[in-house]
Amino acid sequence: MKTPTITKKISFQNIFIGLVFFLVLGIVFFIYSIDFSLLVLAFILFIYAKFLRKIENLPSYLDLCLLGIIAILIPILTVVTFKMSGYSIAAIGFVMLITLLFNNLELSLLFAIFICLLGESIDGGNFNVGISLLCGSLVAGMLTFRLKRRFEVIKAGLFAGIVQFIVAFIMERKQSFFISSGLDFGLLQVCLLNGIISSFIVLGILPVFEYIFKVLTNISLLELSDFNHPLLRKLILEAPGTYQHSLVVANLSEAASEAIGANALLSRVGAYYHDVGKMIKPDYFVENLVNYRDVHKNLKPSMSKLIIFNHVKDGAEIAKKNHLNPKIIDFISQHHGRTLVYYFYQRAKELEPEGKHEEEYSYPGPRPQNKEIAVVSLADTVEALSRTLEEPTPARIEEMVRDVVRKRFMEGELDESNLTLKDLEKITQSFIRVLNAVFHARINYPKDENRNSKSAKTKENKS
Ligand SMILES: [Fe+2]
Ligand SMILES: [Fe+2]
Repeated sequence: MKTPTITKKISFQNIFIGLVFFLVLGIVFFIYSIDFSLLVLAFILFIYAKFLRKIENLPSYLDLCLLGIIAILIPILTVVTFKMSGYSIAAIGFVMLITLLFNNLELSLLFAIFICLLGESIDGGNFNVGISLLCGSLVAGMLTFRLKRRFEVIKAGLFAGIVQFIVAFIMERKQSFFISSGLDFGLLQVCLLNGIISSFIVLGILPVFEYIFKVLTNISLLELSDFNHPLLRKLILEAPGTYQHSLVVANLSEAASEAIGANALLSRVGAYYHDVGKMIKPDYFVENLVNYRDVHKNLKPSMSKLIIFNHVKDGAEIAKKNHLNPKIIDFISQHHGRTLVYYFYQRAKELEPEGKHEEEYSYPGPRPQNKEIAVVSLADTVEALSRTLEEPTPARIEEMVRDVVRKRFMEGELDESNLTLKDLEKITQSFIRVLNAVFHARINYPKDENRNSKSAKTKENKS
């Protein structure tokens, strides 16, 4: 299995982006007389995040530079342009935005350190401002981590504002202990408004940043998982069999992603939408067959293959029309990778044994590009095959799951997904556990002969 290497990530384009970014930073620091040691700090943090620590799911070079520019603009606009207090620098909002977008506390911490030190420097080296902003934004980051509801973001903002005020109040009192006493309502107002207004702004601009950085926050994922979403409602009505299939795939994928530490909510939502393309011709897919009437019987295998292939292309188009995030569209385009449509491939071979059909009957790809899509792709096949098991005993279920995972691995379908062999074993175990639970619930109870004969007699008496 391939593992991304550092050399692959460093390109001339990225070096150019980095140079331009630090040049712009240098000019801005010079114009606003900001301490140049912060420029060195920014460089060290960048090297630490990208190469020393190699933080997972780190934004691209361009995205990191864009975030760096926003981090500089916030204190400059607040203190220099609008002449506001250093305590009103929206560090809380910025850190909440980073945490919601990238779900990575380490990255949030690095940006919190940078923006707070910058705020302190721009506010004339006011240490109280720096330390109170840092405490407030760290609390904001921790409280926003993995949040799924909008209201919780506002609560996090309010609480972070309170923490910022308490730290600022203690620091200010410490310096002027003998001069003033009592609560500083001006400071309280600034800190609370900073926290609350920041959280409202973050919620407002979140969709824009999700689009720019091509990410999906837990908040949006939860909204997409609502079955009242127009696309899911349409799927329920037009392809009920596919909807049922997607539900089971979602359950399998969520459990497996949880087991390997991938984004379980993303897998679940991706599974809900992975087959929306089947809405165009639902009757041509086995799960929607009415009275098991095989509509492919009178079609050439090449025609059937085309109809089956098209559910991927149609799905991506439907998703684009409905403005789904590119991350969800990836599930639709990649869930079959370059696998073979085995049934129609076999039929083509029967009709024309001499022909080479592998290429023609394989999906065009791309292969799954991340762990979550790879999990959904495996769950998709496992679910479809589980329905063909005549007697789904635990041994047969295990054999089928291991066979699917092994074949996919051998075919190289998982090469670009970053899954490790350890992950594959955990995914296998998780699928077996979930399927055993599903089939255990379906096992018939033994008939109670006495009870049956009694109820039959009662019926006879009634009639
Ligand atoms: Fe599919
Ligand atoms: Fe599917």
